[in-house]
Amino acid sequence: MSSNSGPLHVEQRASLREHNTFGLPAVARTLVHLGSAADVRRVVDHPLLGPAPKLVLGGGSNLVLTRDVDSVVLKVEILGRRLLREEADAWIVEAGAGESWHGLVAWTLEQGWPGLENLALIPGSVGGAPVQNIGAYGIELQDRFDSLDAVDLVTGRNVTLGAADCRFGYRDSVFKRSGFGGLAGKSVITQVRLRLPKPWQPVLGYLDLERKMLDTGNHAPDARTVFEWVCAIRRAKLPDPAVLGNAGSFFKNPVVSAEQCRDIIGREPEVVHYAMPDGSSKLAAGWLIDACGWKGKTVGRAGVHDKQALVLVNRGGASGAEVVTLARAIQESVYGRFGIRLEPEPVIV
Ligand code: EPU
Repeated sequence: MSSNSGPLHVEQRASLREHNTFGLPAVARTLVHLGSAADVRRVVDHPLLGPAPKLVLGGGSNLVLTRDVDSVVLKVEILGRRLLREEADAWIVEAGAGESWHGLVAWTLEQGWPGLENLALIPGSVGGAPVQNIGAYGIELQDRFDSLDAVDLVTGRNVTLGAADCRFGYRDSVFKRSGFGGLAGKSVITQVRLRLPKPWQPVLGYLDLERKMLDTGNHAPDARTVFEWVCAIRRAKLPDPAVLGNAGSFFKNPVVSAEQCRDIIGREPEVVHYAMPDGSSKLAAGWLIDACGWKGKTVGRAGVHDKQALVLVNRGGASGAEVVTLARAIQESVYGRFGIRLEPEPVIV
């Protein structure tokens, strides 16, 4: 890894298979390993790398590679984690964007700074967490976000962004958007700061966690117990990318108006749905896909996970094109039966 003073670590014709959790084959014409914010500035100042289009890669856990990549791939490997400061009502923790997200969650708990336990075992890196606004079991990254540092890929300047600048949405942020105002490919997140509120309060409203409380009889779990419950719940239904390639949920849960929701319930009384504060409803995409008979199916070398229909998997040797073909077939059948267009969650390249 490059240090503040060493040369840039650049690879030509680098395989990306090990750098995406789907295990899809693709070759980067140029791959640059970034060990520090100074490395990012070196890329910006470089006569060839500086002006080239960029693809920023974190843990590769939310990515579908359908082709070789001509853009310069920037692999963020910035490490380090520390308690930045302790306030009366929060711990502020800072971590390098290249740290493992789950590693950070486990470490903060060990240090006695709870608050991230519901987000345990989410694959990917610390820098990817705000890009995606990762979420699980009733908490989203934005609920624990303080601020982040990024390097602008045009000017080489370091910028600090607060929550409002990140424009967080459901599995969305300014870093996922291209086009005017979007920052996709335009900046590299280097450090992320999280705000873990004191006193700690468990978030136990999600059905799977309520079930754990009933099953164990423990209605006042500590943070470590919630962490273990979340890990157990995830292991039971989500495939481990080290064993079966995948990118977590493949589609977002669609949000529909109250009227559309009533219409669907009229036709499909079993549909799993959650009321949103603004009166709209979020439907469980996994349920819609499952209802269309996709769970456990295989098309080519891509498939639908047998325990969670929202997760597409690489059954071994799949190409990105096979995954996308399967995804389209699922979108068509869900549209045909429910009139709902499912939107992919991962970035498709
Ligand atoms: N369901 C089915 N069949 C299926 C899958 C799900 O009937 O094959 C039903 C379940 O029984 C449940 C409902 O659909 O009633 C929701 O399922 P689940 O609790 O597994 O959650 P999800 O909505 O499918 C979302 C996130 C996950 C996150 C979990 C827990 C999205 C797109 N996905 O999944 O996030 O871990 O909630 O909070 O919002 C990810 O983003 O990659 C991800 C894994």
